Amino acid sequence: MTEREAMARALALAWRGWGRVQPNPLVGAVVLQGDQLVGEGWHAEHGGSHAEAAALAAAGEQARGATVVCTLEPCDHHGKQPPCTGAVRAAGVRRVVAALHDPNPIAAGGAERLRAAGIDVELGLLADEARAQNAIFLHQQRDRSRPYVALKLATSIDGRIADANGHSRWLSGQPARDFVQWLRAGFDAVAVGGVTARADDPSLTVRGALQPRVPPRRVVFAADADVPLSLRLVRTARDTSTLVIAGTSAGENQVAALEAAGVGVIRAASLIDALAAARHTGIVSLLVEGGGRLAGALLAAGLVDRYYWVQTPLWLGKSGVRAVAGLPAVPLADTARWRVTDRRALGEDTLLVLDRG
Ligand SMILES: NC(=O)c1ccc[n+]([C@@H]2O[C@H](COP(=O)([O-])OP(=O)(O)OC[C@H]3O[C@@H](n4cnc5c(N)ncnc54)[C@H](OP(=O)(O)O)[C@@H]3O)[C@@H](O)[C@H]2O)c1
Repeated sequence: MTEREAMARALALAWRGWGRVQPNPLVGAVVLQGDQLVGEGWHAEHGGSHAEAAALAAAGEQARGATVVCTLEPCDHHGKQPPCTGAVRAAGVRRVVAALHDPNPIAAGGAERLRAAGIDVELGLLADEARAQNAIFLHQQRDRSRPYVALKLATSIDGRIADANGHSRWLSGQPARDFVQWLRAGFDAVAVGGVTARADDPSLTVRGALQPRVPPRRVVFAADADVPLSLRLVRTARDTSTLVIAGTSAGENQVAALEAAGVGVIRAASLIDALAAARHTGIVSLLVEGGGRLAGALLAAGLVDRYYWVQTPLWLGKSGVRAVAGLPAVPLADTARWRVTDRRALGEDTLLVLDRG
C-alpha cells in the first residue's frame, strides 16, 4: 500500500465518526510498516480516543519505525484525551504524513513538536479531499458569524423539486433517502422553508441506521411565523427542538402560540441576521432541505457553502416547482464554477456534491 492509498483509507475510516464526533473533526489514521498496513483507527466518539492513538494501539510493537498516515496533523494538547504527539513519539514512529494542518489554535503545533523530536513530518497529501470531508469543522474555525450552510435538493431531470400540485414525495429512490438520513446525522440543524413545512408536514428527524450523538434541531424559515400548530414539527417540539425564524413583523399572537407549544422563535430582518441568530443559539452547521424559494434566497445572498444535489431520472415539466427560485441573472463570464467534491450513484439517482468556488 502506498502512502497515498493509506491516506485514502484513512479518509474512508474518518467518515465512521460522522454524527458522533462533532464539533470535533473527523479523523482517520493508518500505520504503515514499509508497504504493509499494520494498524488503523478513527475518531469514533466525541471525547473518545483520537484516530492516531487508536491506530497505534492496533499496531502495537509493529509501530516502531513505522509511518503514521492521518487525515489531520496530530494534536499537541491535553484535552479529553492526551496529545497524539506523545503517543506518536512513545511508539517510536519514524515518519508522519498528515493531510491537513490543524487550524485549531488550541491543538495546533503537532508537526513542529514531532519534527523537534526527529520525526519526519509531511503535510498536504490529499489535502483537498480532507478539506472537503472536514468542511464543517474548518468553517467553524474561521467563521463564527454564521453556521456552515449546506443545501440539499432532490430534483427532476428538468430541475423541478415538486410537481405542479406541490407533490414531491417521493422524487428520489430509497438509497437516496437513506443517504439523506445519514447526512442529517452530521448536522446541528435541518431547515425548510415555510411552504415546505406546510405542504409536506415533514418530521425532519433522523430515522436511519446511524443515530447521531446529538439529534439535529429543526428550523423553519417562515417570514410571518405561519407554522400551524397541527404540524408534526410543532406537535413534537418538546421531544426534538424546533426553531421558527420569522420576520420582524410576524404577528405577536402567532409567535406566542408557537412558543406556548414549545417552539423557539427568533425574529430576524434578513437571512444573514437569521443565520447569525441561529449561530448564536449554537447551530454550527445547517442542512437546508428546500424548498426552491428558500434555496434561491440563500444562494442569491451567497450563503450556501455546499450543495448536495440528488438528480432523479424523471421529468416534471414547466409547471413543476423550480429547484431554485428567484436567483438573479448572472452573465456567464461573471459566474464562479462550483467544485465537484463527490459524484456517485445512489440507486437510480445521482448525487453531486458541489462546494462554492
Ligand atoms: N424535492 C425536494 O428536495 C424538495 C425539498 C423541499 C421542498 N420540496 C417541495 O417544494 C415546494 C415548496 O417550495 P417553495 O419554493 O414553494 O417554498 P419554500 O422555499 O419551501 O418556502 C418559501 C417560504 O420560506 C419562507 N422564507 C423565509 N425567509 C425567506 C427568505 N428570505 N426568502 C425566501 N423565503 C423565505 C417564506 O415563508 P412564509 O410564506 O411562511 O413567510 C416563503 O414563503 C413543496 O411543494 C415541497 O414539497 C421539494
